[in-house]
Amino acid sequence: MVNKKPIVIGNWKMNKTVAEAKKSAQAIVNGLKDESQTEVVVCPAHPSLDALRKIFSKTNVSLGAQNVFWKAEGSYTGEVSIKMLLELGVTHVIVGHSERRINAHETLEEINQKVQLVIDHGLVPILCVGEKFEERQEGQKDVVIMKQVAEGLRGIDSFRELIIAYEPVWVIGRGEAIDAEEARANIALISYSLRDMFSWQLIEENIRLIYGGSVDASNVASFVDEETIHGVLVGNASLEAEKFLGIIKALKTHQ
Ligand code: PGA
Repeated sequence: MVNKKPIVIGNWKMNKTVAEAKKSAQAIVNGLKDESQTEVVVCPAHPSLDALRKIFSKTNVSLGAQNVFWKAEGSYTGEVSIKMLLELGVTHVIVGHSERRINAHETLEEINQKVQLVIDHGLVPILCVGEKFEERQEGQKDVVIMKQVAEGLRGIDSFRELIIAYEPVWVIGRGEAIDAEEARANIALISYSLRDMFSWQLIEENIRLIYGGSVDASNVASFVDEETIHGVLVGNASLEAEKFLGIIKALKTHQ
């Protein structure tokens, strides 16, 4: 059974050289001593994975990757395979982040293949879904979210753990999150649509639903609750160790 304590995932995106990543990772480890109430995952850029694996080994911080290729191996210049990530000690993989859907034109089929590959190799996918501002204005929000969930998880029937991050695209990196009640309503919608795909038991025990989009220490506690939102995915506010630790602390104080 999945441990459903709150999870805080830092996505460093295309920031930090290996030297900078090592420094931040060490500061996080130092600041988290004795932390056991919150699960923490850090997702650096691929070149830093090996160095961070060493820093996070024997700590309670897990190592995540920001992406994986959708084929297992072969002639795909510049791509990184799931087996390579596994060998580097990665336990979580972000799949379908909106920045990849937009900048790398990732399709629903590719995202679905990635989720399947991650699960097949025993790792935890962090499937990101969320609407763009225009889609919201056009009244398409619910349809977009439900489609991304259904297509992302098509054909998938069993897994040890799955995380779905609801991230409204238009608040990512903006410094202002959406209202917590709205996030809760959209995540409840995801939870509801999962019932068509999986058993109640699988949803309850093996899936965590989280929120992402301008989360920081001042708003994190409003999002995470025991019922609907099980954690957060953090971009900008995860880049400075102190700020990232502040989020974990704010959550702890709230529990
Ligand atoms: P942000 O990024 O916290 O900077 O909004 C979140 C994300 O992209 O996952």
